[in-house]
Amino acid sequence: MTTIDPHAPVAPPALDIPAILADLTLKEKAALLDGSDFWHTEPIERLGVPAIMVTDGPHGVRKQPEHGDHLGLGDSVPATCFPPAAGLASSWDVDLLHRVGEALGDECRAQQVAVLLGPGVNMKRSPLCGRNFEYFSEDPFLAGRLAASVVRGVQSRGVGTSLKHFAANNQETDRMTVSAEVDERTLREIYLPAFEHVVATAQPWTVMCSYNKINGVYASEDHWLLTEVLRDEWGYDGLVVSDWGAVNERDLAVAAGLDLEMPSSSGAGARTIVAAVANGTLDEADVDRAAGRVLGLVNRSLPALVPAPDFDVDAHHALAGEAAAASAVLLKNDGGVLPLDAGRGGRIAVIGELARTPRYQGAGSSQVCPMRLDDALSALTRAVAGARPVSFAAGYVVESDAADPALVAEAVEATRDADVVLLFLGLPASYESEGYDRDHMDLPDPQVALLEAVAAVNSNVVVVLSNGSAVAMPWEHHARAVLEGWLLGQAGGSAVADLLLGTVNPSGKLAETLPLRQVDNPTVGAFPGEHEQVRYGEGLLIGYRWYDSRGMAVAYPFGHGLSYTTFTYSDVEVEVLDDVDTTVAVSVTVTNAGDRAGQETVQVYVADPDSEVFRPEQELKGFAKVSLEPGASTRVTIELDARAFSWWHTSLHRWVVESGTFEIRVGSSSRDIRSTVTIELPGDDLTPALAPDSTASAWLDHPTAGPRLLAQLQAASGGVADMLFDPQNGAMIRAIPLVRLSRFPGFPVREEDIADLAAEANAHR
Ligand code: BGC
Repeated sequence: MTTIDPHAPVAPPALDIPAILADLTLKEKAALLDGSDFWHTEPIERLGVPAIMVTDGPHGVRKQPEHGDHLGLGDSVPATCFPPAAGLASSWDVDLLHRVGEALGDECRAQQVAVLLGPGVNMKRSPLCGRNFEYFSEDPFLAGRLAASVVRGVQSRGVGTSLKHFAANNQETDRMTVSAEVDERTLREIYLPAFEHVVATAQPWTVMCSYNKINGVYASEDHWLLTEVLRDEWGYDGLVVSDWGAVNERDLAVAAGLDLEMPSSSGAGARTIVAAVANGTLDEADVDRAAGRVLGLVNRSLPALVPAPDFDVDAHHALAGEAAAASAVLLKNDGGVLPLDAGRGGRIAVIGELARTPRYQGAGSSQVCPMRLDDALSALTRAVAGARPVSFAAGYVVESDAADPALVAEAVEATRDADVVLLFLGLPASYESEGYDRDHMDLPDPQVALLEAVAAVNSNVVVVLSNGSAVAMPWEHHARAVLEGWLLGQAGGSAVADLLLGTVNPSGKLAETLPLRQVDNPTVGAFPGEHEQVRYGEGLLIGYRWYDSRGMAVAYPFGHGLSYTTFTYSDVEVEVLDDVDTTVAVSVTVTNAGDRAGQETVQVYVADPDSEVFRPEQELKGFAKVSLEPGASTRVTIELDARAFSWWHTSLHRWVVESGTFEIRVGSSSRDIRSTVTIELPGDDLTPALAPDSTASAWLDHPTAGPRLLAQLQAASGGVADMLFDPQNGAMIRAIPLVRLSRFPGFPVREEDIADLAAEANAHR
């Protein structure tokens, strides 16, 4: 299939892309825009263009043997399974994610994989999305920063990434046909910024377009999305690949800017392209451009065709463990029940099948075949061996919705006189997967019943959760501590043991809100839509933006996460360094006030209390994670740029900073703000353009036309002119377009002058 000798010690010579393009026939160019199988591009043997291999992703290398499927059904070669994005995101640790990216890159190189298909930066619009485990956050700022770090890490090893799924792929139901109906401002402020940030700062080699439609247009055929926004605005110069099977009409997709169709369309795509060029409906220049980008991708992938040395399996397992420990979030810890004292002596009852049989990743195309698999039960038993007895009872069958009385009875017995109960609960694999959504947020009933039974005989219950997406916790009062373990990859079991025993101090923070109930979520009634349409009616108000703007109680807020130590914040200072280009420095001193080393993530939220448009209560615009020894302090400075204060103006179609007051809120979570500082920014000139049919109010507010109109009105007192300022009816009159007012008897402005007045007012724009 390829002219490249896989055992060649050096990379093939660079491709002369212009020369190859000039040599290729239309048929060959069209063939190049199609995969050759599930995972390879098409080679052009006569011109020495090899095939390259792409593979899932994102949290491990899922290289399948020849002819594998892409749905996670078949096997893949063993690879380190890092925590999926839902876990990694809770680390809020860009350096860690860079190192995970490097390790993923090394594993790709060892497998001669040129592009790893990830990361995915879609927003967690609803906790029910079946694929939330593969996504980072409900917040675009956080998702963008973290994903960019992964991309930089992977690509630093000479391996490409595929930023996916571009865009608005926020559900699995009808994912291949549904139209996400999203307004312009919401797209720009919520659903696109994570992509934008990664593209602008990390230039992923490829971007993968999503299956769904956006406002009625397939992403794969969306010229606005794939060309105007991605390339013309954001400056993207890599390749756009379809999600597997996302191409609908191949010729429309080429014209829109979709370069490579995957997997192979068995020649159908190439035939369509050739026919469309022949009948003049597709410009051959579009085909050339796409073929050039495929050749560009192959060219930068040449080093990856050379066998690279094997990676260090132990080191990667250790890194997976470090990442797992950083990903878990300690939600509550009443009375300091954690960490467990390894030497205290009393028996530890470990309850729950998930302690023995871990759930460590989600299902579907991202399912990695792990190199190893740690389970918490063995890790805990090993760690306290000789010091504390450990007993185990399974308590439930993971994939069963019916309680097993014998298992429950055994668990209750094991619990009765234990010193502490570690109860492992979580979502069965069948509850969350690529391809479908959940219809509730609950743990299986038998698990909740088990918790109740266990808590009835022992008040020292610690719950450890395994779940790829948020669960409701109406049961949490039965537990003194809850460790949100997400899905933690192959080393998650030992990482959980380290956290419970305090060998590692928890430092994860929630990258998504845990609501009290599923029905509190703003997408109720608008997820997953009907008749293949889903209205994003909540607009900007996803996740904490909704709960905070509504002042609603939540189970655990965005950004929350406890440590075994405590951190104090002091001396918050905010300095406007540049009010033209808008650079604001936020500084705070963080002190570890406890007696253990730990890590804290400082979060900066911006609020815009008086804005011309609706803005969410507050939005995350900066964060920094710091490590501190007991008693130590550090000064953290976080810079905010114009985007931190901007909103998307839907008539100007660009980002704007409004002049006025902004609040800078510095905190340890979105609901634990330690200090708020107010600043003034001059902002952009947002004087709106005037037209004859602009309202009298808009005319009066205008900096030059307003005073002029006012003078005319005052000079002609009486009649309609006076009514404009009437305390009772003035607002109603001022809402009338000026041109229509001008026709009212006695109005002092003549209709025939208004167009000139508008032109004069708009002249400086
Ligand atoms: C998924 C992608 C994945 C691709 C290849 C699709 O079903 O949506 O995320 O990369 O398959 O496996």
